[in-house]
Amino acid sequence: MPASTKPAIQLTPQISVNGKVVAFNEKKQTLLECLERENVEVHYHCRDGFCGACRVTLTAGEINYPNGEPLAFVGENEILPCCCVPVTDITLTIE
Ligand code: FES
Repeated sequence: MPASTKPAIQLTPQISVNGKVVAFNEKKQTLLECLERENVEVHYHCRDGFCGACRVTLTAGEINYPNGEPLAFVGENEILPCCCVPVTDITLTIE
């Protein structure tokens, strides 16, 4: 039994969104670009973390903002797909 039971970070996180599951397999894309490629509709405006238009609810998993925390307001459990990437499998709710 290994000393650490912490799960390893997956190389290809799965994104569950409104009943659909898509793979995040392109490292240079944002979560928003991945969702668009899979025809998941997400509202957006600035695509750079300023306006908050792309805000969605993260119900499970972890994301990361590669370019630092965005300036737009996000509530508890909300994320901005235009400037984040999934770190683990994630579940989103898009209204
Ligand atoms: S589109 Fe403006 S913060 Fe994401």
